[in-house]
Amino acid sequence: MIPSREPLPVWAIAALVIAARAPDFLPGSAWCRMEGGSAAMPGVFGGLPVWWLPITVLFVPALPALQEWQISLAVYLVAFIHVAVVNGAAWRHRVPLFLTTTGVNRAVAQLLPKRRGVRFLDLGCGTGSVLLDMARLVPGGHYDGIETAPLSYLVSRWRVRGHAAVRVSCGNCWSEDFSSYDVVYACLSPQPMARLWHKACSEMRPGSLLISNTFDAPGVEPSCTIPVADCMHSVLYVWRMEEHCS
Ligand SMILES: C[S@@+](CC[C@H](N)C(=O)[O-])C[C@H]1O[C@@H](n2cnc3c(N)ncnc32)[C@H](O)[C@@H]1O
Repeated sequence: MIPSREPLPVWAIAALVIAARAPDFLPGSAWCRMEGGSAAMPGVFGGLPVWWLPITVLFVPALPALQEWQISLAVYLVAFIHVAVVNGAAWRHRVPLFLTTTGVNRAVAQLLPKRRGVRFLDLGCGTGSVLLDMARLVPGGHYDGIETAPLSYLVSRWRVRGHAAVRVSCGNCWSEDFSSYDVVYACLSPQPMARLWHKACSEMRPGSLLISNTFDAPGVEPSCTIPVADCMHSVLYVWRMEEHCS
C-alpha cells in the first residue's frame, strides 16, 4: 500500500511529470498523457495499491492510441464477450472474478469438521480451485459450488470432472438453500455481505460455519478472524451461526 503518512507523495508527482514528458514510451498526445497522469491522482491520494498506477496513467492515453492502430473491431467484440462471460457478475452482482489463494484454501480446510459426509458450499466457485483443494485436503466430504459466469462455470465443471465428491452448478447463489451445509464459504466483495449475512442467518443451521474471505459482515462481530500469510494478505472471517443470529 501507499505509505499514508508521507507528506509529499513524490512518486505520484513524478508519475504526472513522466506522463506529460515521456513521448517515446507513452501513447497519445501530451494532453492525453496529462489526463492519464491526472486520472492517477485520486487513486494515489486515496491509497490505491501501487500496481494501479500504470493502469490509471495509461488508460486515457491508450484510447486514442488504440484508434490510431486501427485494430479490427472483431478484437474488441471478442474482448467484450470474454469480459462478459467471465466477469458479468461484476455488473450484475458487484462481484468480479479473482481466486482464493492456496494458503487460504489450506486455512479453510483446517476449519472444516473432520467427519465423513461434511457438506461444504462455495458461493461463486469461479474456476473450482477451492472445491478441488477441499476435496483433496479433507476427503470424505461433499463439496458443492455454484457459479453464475458461464465461462467460469464451464471451466470449473471441466476441472471437477471425475471427482465424485465435487459438484458444480450454474446459477445464482442467492437462490441456493444454505440449510443443508455445514460450511458455507464466500469470497465475494464488500457489496453483498449484508445480504449474505441475512440469508445465512435465516437459513444456516446452528453450529454451522459461514466463512468469508477478506470481506466482513457490516456490524457483526465474527467468532474469529484468521489472518493468512499469503500474497493477498487475506483474512478469513468466521461466524459460528448460533452465536450471532437473533
Ligand atoms: C471472487 S470470485 C471467487 C471464486 C472462487 N470462489 C475462489 O475463491 O477462488 C467470485 C465469483 O463469484 C461469482 N459470483 C458472483 N455473484 C454470484 C452470484 N450471485 N451467484 C453465483 N456466482 C456469483 C463470480 O462470477 C466469481 O466467479
